[in-house]
Amino acid sequence: MTHGNAPIEQTASRHGTWRSRGTFILAATGSAVGLGNIWRFPYVTGEYGGSAFIVVYLVSVLLLGLPVMMAEVALGREGRHSPLITMQKLIERTRSHRIWLLIGWSSLLSGFLIASYYEVIAGWTLRYALDYSGQAIGLLPGTTDVQQVWSAFLSSPGQLILFQTLFVVITMAVIARGLKRGLEKATTLMMPVLFLMLLALLVYSLLEGDPAASLSYMFKPDWSALGVNGVLAAMGQAFFTLSLGMGAIMVYGAYLPEGVKVPSTVGVIALLDTLVAIIAGIALFSIIFAHPELQPESGPGLLFITLSSAFEVMPGGVLIGMLFFFLVGVAALTSLLSIVEPTVAWVVEKYNASRLRVSITVGVVVWLLGLGTVFSFNLGEDVLIFFGQTFFGFLDYLTNNILLPAGGLLIALFAGWIMPREVIARQLSLEGRAFLTWQILARWIAPAGILAVLVYTWFSAG
Ligand code: PHE
Repeated sequence: MTHGNAPIEQTASRHGTWRSRGTFILAATGSAVGLGNIWRFPYVTGEYGGSAFIVVYLVSVLLLGLPVMMAEVALGREGRHSPLITMQKLIERTRSHRIWLLIGWSSLLSGFLIASYYEVIAGWTLRYALDYSGQAIGLLPGTTDVQQVWSAFLSSPGQLILFQTLFVVITMAVIARGLKRGLEKATTLMMPVLFLMLLALLVYSLLEGDPAASLSYMFKPDWSALGVNGVLAAMGQAFFTLSLGMGAIMVYGAYLPEGVKVPSTVGVIALLDTLVAIIAGIALFSIIFAHPELQPESGPGLLFITLSSAFEVMPGGVLIGMLFFFLVGVAALTSLLSIVEPTVAWVVEKYNASRLRVSITVGVVVWLLGLGTVFSFNLGEDVLIFFGQTFFGFLDYLTNNILLPAGGLLIALFAGWIMPREVIARQLSLEGRAFLTWQILARWIAPAGILAVLVYTWFSAG
């Protein structure tokens, strides 16, 4: 008979382990903090009734996000491999059904799909950051018509491809250098810079913007604007912003040293992620509301049109614009690393291939797939063959509304019901009541919440 709680066969992944709890926190926070915090969070908050939305979002982070995040780290550290091979090993050990391999396969699929559009949008931030840098040193002229610059940029596939390519090359160069020299070095270097840039932006926005208007937009509860849609959007946002459901956190967990306590560590990551989202929101709207002629747009326009228009006329706007778009670019880069790592790690393990070669190959595939998103904004704008959406619209919908929640649901169920209690309790260093609380959340509460989101998505799409 196999014992589910047999001693761990491996105490380290072949890719290495994070130097410390701190480097894991920086890397995982880097994964969590991304376009979801700086661009999506502010505008969905505004749309769904300010603090009413934030309350539901915080509750979702606690009841849905944290238990699933703990489950991902626990499974990853127990398996010590890429999500797919980790799942193979855990399925063998628990003699459970191979259907659970879906967790591993969907992590690969989501990774490719998300990476393919994330790199394109991240490329936009790079273009804006470089453009503002050029203006700052007097190389480029200032912009007179922000809206026109934006439309011209989006309608030029050549330009979009140029910045997409740059972003993929940077990302894969970091990944190719491996865990220690690549991921760990890059995130420990970039995350403190990101926090500093965010702080500078906040201070500037408080001095030059209209913080009172921003605070009332973000925090005045309007329960009538929330509705069922708002509640579900808050749950979905909690999930996306914590990078859950696609093995990103699982693979980072596979590199976590033994002995690091998971619950408090995961708590710090979720807290930092939430703080960044709220600070970014306050700063953004404070700057925008200082200009009554500007309407906060939703969607990509919020950053690239509304905010850019504000920077054009504000004192030091060029420098702050540069700072801001570098900030978003760095946030996107540290997220993208975690989106491709599960796939790269898997190919390296499966084919015993060199990381450099795998990184180049994965980079090329992601880049090719990304062309679909590039053309969704120009040549293929009217090609709505993907359930009535552009290619980009379809990918965005499929990953955020279906694949990630479904992945998270399976992860919660597998960790909660299939894995032996002792193994998870040991991984989470929880016992008694505390463990029971996690178990109830992972077995019942989180799955019920996620299922509600999935079912609703299904019917509202029909
Ligand atoms: N959490 C990232 C963000 O907020 C996105 C992400 C999703 C990263 C899934 C990894 C995995 O932008």
